[in-house]
Amino acid sequence: VDGWNVTIAAAFALEPRYARRLFPAESRVLFDPSIRVLSSEPVTDFLDPARTDDLAEVELLVTGWGCPALDDVALERMPRLRWIVHAAGTVKGHLGAAVWRRGVVVSSATSVNAIPVAEYTVGAILLAGKRAFKLAADLRAARTAMVADERYPGMGNYRKRVGLVGASTIGRLVIEYLRPFSFEVVVADPFLTQADATQLGVRVIELDELLATSDIVSVHAPELPSTRNMIDARRVGLMRPDTTLINTARGSLVDHDALRRRAAAGELSLILDVTDPQPLPQNDPLYDAEDVLLTPHIAGSMGTELERLATAAIDEVNRIARGLPFEHPVDGGALALRA
Ligand SMILES: NC(=O)c1ccc[n+]([C@@H]2O[C@H](COP(=O)([O-])OP(=O)(O)OC[C@H]3O[C@@H](n4cnc5c(N)ncnc54)[C@H](O)[C@@H]3O)[C@@H](O)[C@H]2O)c1
Repeated sequence: VDGWNVTIAAAFALEPRYARRLFPAESRVLFDPSIRVLSSEPVTDFLDPARTDDLAEVELLVTGWGCPALDDVALERMPRLRWIVHAAGTVKGHLGAAVWRRGVVVSSATSVNAIPVAEYTVGAILLAGKRAFKLAADLRAARTAMVADERYPGMGNYRKRVGLVGASTIGRLVIEYLRPFSFEVVVADPFLTQADATQLGVRVIELDELLATSDIVSVHAPELPSTRNMIDARRVGLMRPDTTLINTARGSLVDHDALRRRAAAGELSLILDVTDPQPLPQNDPLYDAEDVLLTPHIAGSMGTELERLATAAIDEVNRIARGLPFEHPVDGGALALRA
């Protein structure tokens, strides 16, 4: 091998519309010169005979939303594959056991994708504290001046208790982003040690107590067999009237019939970026319930935020080109407890 001429054969595997937005042709100059992109067309089917030659050569795959499953059959076609850089969050959907067995080294932009989710959450917490969504509806109906804090004497962001369900990647970022404000932050997470909590500056409490005592509850746990319906009807019932529940995690973690009942009774404020099912059926009462803000799964990277994901992925690729380890490696053995 000519030492001056070592290249790494790379290919993209993700939905073409994301490939175009994350890695447009002009972004290719950002890759280290030693990265030889085999084709600007992303692979969308690892069994596509037209891609046999590329797959036989590829050493580094840049994946993203819509990447097909990397199972045994797919990996057999990529005998030289050594690295996967995922330009999105979770890799659980597309990376099969064969990837870890083969010792392919994986990086994911989970912690980068966590940034807009944490930002959305903090924005939601601050506006919910101000009762902004309820008051906007009140104003639309009344069309006149109102003394807001006579209506809602408990409004405001001073000395409220924010309860975070899960000290996950996103949950921890929310803790960090909430530091400049005047909240008391409590966390329910069976995997968070007292020592870690102290370091994060939060108090660990049981989920029931968190629900019963927080002014604003925000859900950040991953969807796992153990977290499905974790906030069941009984637990939805623990939240005091006027509590705001924010869910940017997964709809399946929360009992939606119980949410519908309490929202219809005007007892809970809801900010739901994810629902169960998703989307909700067209006639779902949550669409019309007062003080319910539904957003179409926008908390994660969108629009300009895609550029941050792409930059993070390109940085990881370039680290490999320079012989450095990934900055955001994925531990395949730890995925069972991760989103
Ligand atoms: N709305 C969006 O656009 C969007 C974007 C990204 C992620 N998400 C979702 O946000 C959530 C958090 O993602 P992440 O990457 O921060 O997760 P993560 O993989 O970092 O979470 C793992 C952690 O969750 C905690 N956890 C596990 N079981 C728990 C339980 N029973 N109760 C409380 N905590 C528990 C543990 O601390 C564990 O280490 C996930 O549900 C994910 O799917 C949503």
